[in-house]
Amino acid sequence: MAVLVTGGAGYIGSHTVADLLNHGEEVVVIDNLQQGHRQAVLDCPLYEIDIRDTDAVAEIVRRHDVESVVHFAAHSLVGESVKQPLKYYANNVGATERLLSTLVESGVNQIVFSSTAATYGEPMRVPIDEEHPTAPTNPYGETKLAIERMLRWCHAAYGLKSVSLRYFNAAGAHPDLPIGEDHDPETHLIPLVIQAALGVRENIAIFGTDYPTPDGTCIRDYIDVMDLAAAHRLALSRLRSGGAVEVFNLGIGKGFSVKEVIAAVERVAGARPQVVEASRRAGDPAILVAASGKAQSALGWNPLHDDLEGIIASAFAWHQHHPGGYRE
Ligand code: UFG
Repeated sequence: MAVLVTGGAGYIGSHTVADLLNHGEEVVVIDNLQQGHRQAVLDCPLYEIDIRDTDAVAEIVRRHDVESVVHFAAHSLVGESVKQPLKYYANNVGATERLLSTLVESGVNQIVFSSTAATYGEPMRVPIDEEHPTAPTNPYGETKLAIERMLRWCHAAYGLKSVSLRYFNAAGAHPDLPIGEDHDPETHLIPLVIQAALGVRENIAIFGTDYPTPDGTCIRDYIDVMDLAAAHRLALSRLRSGGAVEVFNLGIGKGFSVKEVIAAVERVAGARPQVVEASRRAGDPAILVAASGKAQSALGWNPLHDDLEGIIASAFAWHQHHPGGYRE
């Protein structure tokens, strides 16, 4: 019996694959490698196919006796989603519909879904718990929420059980394996600040210094990618021992400002990145911090990394050893 991981060659997917293998699971990855990296998948089969390829997915499910799925494959750039919404509806909602149809026809009835804090939109209160209203402010969040809803209807109609995990800001890298964060283009704060500290990038631009926060810069909840990976494993256990349709937030419940992140990178790197102040990035809420008590009590999830410097240290080690990411 295998766990099928879609998008397992991506950032969070590859770390989850490593964690599942480390806990004795049989894992098989499918990834179209548009954004993922072949080198990020260690020690398990990787099929370079698209989740829309119904016949190929059904054949893999049969061949590996797939019992459950962890579904990461998606486009995930907020800014791009605003400019190209149809690409996001096609690749996220449309492709997931294809995948779910294949799973239902193949008799697979357990799925863990990679969702996002972007489903909440501009928060009405922080920390954000799962009861907070969902009102996405961009197509990326809309498509993830649409998939959560699709999963709910699929449970009612076909008995497909699901756990949707709404991540806050994923960061860090595997402590032992040569896998880490490598997006093209890179848009995330921590890798960009590290690259600026390492001199790979000229500077880091702070997007907005006039937010209603203590230092004027946005506050986010940075969660270590290994803690995220563990949550997927626990969600699988939850589905195996019952489960139905559930949604959980994943964050550490502590917020750090952009300026605090830059200062922490400086301490870890021992080098000062060049900083420039820029205008706000459209669609960025001032503060996003998770209330993750539900995941802790229901899944038994216990995030091990709650200090920003520790999270940044693993990311820094990855970037130091892989300044060109996987393309060396
Ligand atoms: N930021 C900068 N300069 C940069 C890049 C980012 O100041 O060069 C700031 C952003 O404005 C934001 C913070 O750093 O305030 C974090 O930005 P990221 O792009 O690293 O992450 P986001 O909070 O925008 O996005 C994350 C996930 C998305 C998810 C979103 C939920 O990456 O997938 O949280 O709102 F949708």
